[in-house]
Amino acid sequence: MTILLTGGTGYIASHTAVTLLEAGHQVVLFDNLCNSQRDVVARIEQITGKAPVFVEGDIRDTQLLRTTLDQHGCDSVIHFAGLKAVGESVAKPILYYANNVQGTISLLQAMEAAGTRTLVFSSSATVYGEPKYLPFDESHPTGATNPYGRTKLHIEEMLKDVCASDSSWRVSCLRYFNPVGAHPSGLIGEDPQGIPNNLMPFVAKVATGELEAIGIFGSDYPTADGTGVRDYIHVMDLAEGHLAGLRFLRDHTGWHAFNLGTGQGYSVLDLVAAFERACGKQLQRKMLPRRPGDIASSYANSAKAESELGWRGTRSLDDMCQSTWKWQSSK
Ligand code: NAD
Ligand code: WQD
Repeated sequence: MTILLTGGTGYIASHTAVTLLEAGHQVVLFDNLCNSQRDVVARIEQITGKAPVFVEGDIRDTQLLRTTLDQHGCDSVIHFAGLKAVGESVAKPILYYANNVQGTISLLQAMEAAGTRTLVFSSSATVYGEPKYLPFDESHPTGATNPYGRTKLHIEEMLKDVCASDSSWRVSCLRYFNPVGAHPSGLIGEDPQGIPNNLMPFVAKVATGELEAIGIFGSDYPTADGTGVRDYIHVMDLAEGHLAGLRFLRDHTGWHAFNLGTGQGYSVLDLVAAFERACGKQLQRKMLPRRPGDIASSYANSAKAESELGWRGTRSLDDMCQSTWKWQSSK
């Protein structure tokens, strides 16, 4: 298969590209480089020994997408491109709707014109909003609590409508929990610009000495140690989840949603302790008030992905921290 990866040089897409190339597929990476670096392309080649095609462009450029799909004979698309910072989406909702929702409409128009009807979409557990029960299964009511999350929900709804209108479309919405970790080579990983919003990259930068102390947002949650609990999923498990999502679509038309998580929740303190084991030093921490908008706990029921995709996240929290540390410390 030849697969177009929008947002192809980004964090999750670059790891997925490695998995797809190693499984014998061709990949075309399409990215405007607003949150990634061009040298990722060479690093993917260094890992796999195979050169991915790279096209620099914006997904709102429908014509360029159409030409790219045609020129490379892409039979499916994995749509990673998007802006993802929750706080920024609250401050700049128009930017988020324009990039994420308008960008997806442009992609769908290009796919329709090119006759490519198979799509895996990077959705998020954020579409579940406040938990009515845990673990989250795919039937849990949706209701995002910020503009970023609402772009994901709008896109999911749009994709449902497209599938309902034409039975030749095949769409998997993969609802990621908390992706972390890096490729075991240490050559690719998550590289946020500025001060990271998310826990793992923040902890990693404290370990390298770039930041002084880990701020822990809330120690009075109704969890075992009072800190927030999340379902961290290794990015290489996630990458394999995309391959499984594509394989599933070979035999299934219509719209489908799958949770990609391990089903295991870890607290902020659990993650910090695992990172200390990985880097071999104690990390300074300070307790801070809760971060507005955060929920106490989030973790997946991933039974559907296991039974229908034949996929399960197997890598441990220690693997996630060790690979992040290898990536950060070798940069
Ligand atoms: P990332 O920022 O590393 O990757 C996104 C890529 O998309 C970047 O390379 C960026 O340059 C590119 N991009 C953004 N807008 C574009 C546009 N208009 N045209 C072309 N390229 C564009 O982020 P990531 O963590 O790899 O996330 C990938 C996808 O997964 C996103 O859609 C994100 O919302 C979703 N997701 C991420 C997480 C997470 O915690 N990392 C969790 C759930 C869902
Ligand atoms: C994890 C835990 C924090 C930073 C976000 C998005 C979500 C999804 C994944 C895309 C929480 C605590 C964090 C810090 C801390 N992205 N924390 N100190 O909030 O679960 O999810 O990323 O779809 O939409 O909201 O992830 O890594 O920010 O936080 O104590 O400096 O770590 O309170 O309990 P979150 P996170």
